[in-house]
Amino acid sequence: MVTTRLPLIAGNWKMNLDHLQAIAFVQKLSWTLDEARHDRSASEVAVFPPFTDLRSVQTLVDAEKFSIAYGAQDLSAHDAGAFTGEISGAFLASLGCTYVLVGHSERRQYHGETDEVLGAKVGAALRYGIVPVLCVGETAADLEEFGASAVPVAQLKATLAGISPDADIVIAYEPVWAIGSGKAATEEQAEQVCAALRHTLSEIVDADFASRTRILYGGSVKSGNIASFMRQPNIDGALVGGASLEVAEFASIVRFYKHVI
Ligand code: PGA
Repeated sequence: MVTTRLPLIAGNWKMNLDHLQAIAFVQKLSWTLDEARHDRSASEVAVFPPFTDLRSVQTLVDAEKFSIAYGAQDLSAHDAGAFTGEISGAFLASLGCTYVLVGHSERRQYHGETDEVLGAKVGAALRYGIVPVLCVGETAADLEEFGASAVPVAQLKATLAGISPDADIVIAYEPVWAIGSGKAATEEQAEQVCAALRHTLSEIVDADFASRTRILYGGSVKSGNIASFMRQPNIDGALVGGASLEVAEFASIVRFYKHVI
């Protein structure tokens, strides 16, 4: 069976750009991609702004019919109720979010999110028809002690136990030591872990799920190194932090197919 996984280039803005800056950014990104004649069948682009920007981004994308998907950086595991400060998947769905990040290493590290909580968040996203982008990855200490694959594979197993074979999800492999450090993983290491993650998906769900689920690499991705990752058979895109905040640089990453031979 031949499965074509449309590459996804996802920009995680983290806590940057307010709603006015978001409008200017998305407008400029769309113009830049149009001007460069971006081939939409070659890669999909998505941005992940802060919650407070989402309504503005929705209004702009709808009005201008931009081919730019967007999502939130987190969601609540609960649907509604007395959870001060939390955001329900229902609210994100009504703002037209296609995606939501789940378990970014900064959420795991600074907000104590466990695999159990993250499994519930994946379930919450799926209940509202939002595609969760589940982030997994090892710290520098994990890498030294267990090698590259063990921790991300264990996180995947713990979070996706019992997931429906029909679920539409995206996995992002992000070695924690590569995030924001300027020191990306080598393409060989990234491919090795992404292949192990795909194998795990076939074990815990099934072969069809494993072959259609997109697995992204994240951690110091730039226009200068994206091509080497995209040449790997098990890497289907990138989750980009710092380099997603500059329009020209991000647009160049989205158009990686221009420099992949
Ligand atoms: P970076 O961040 O591209 O700045 O390394 C990636 C991420 O945190 O998703």
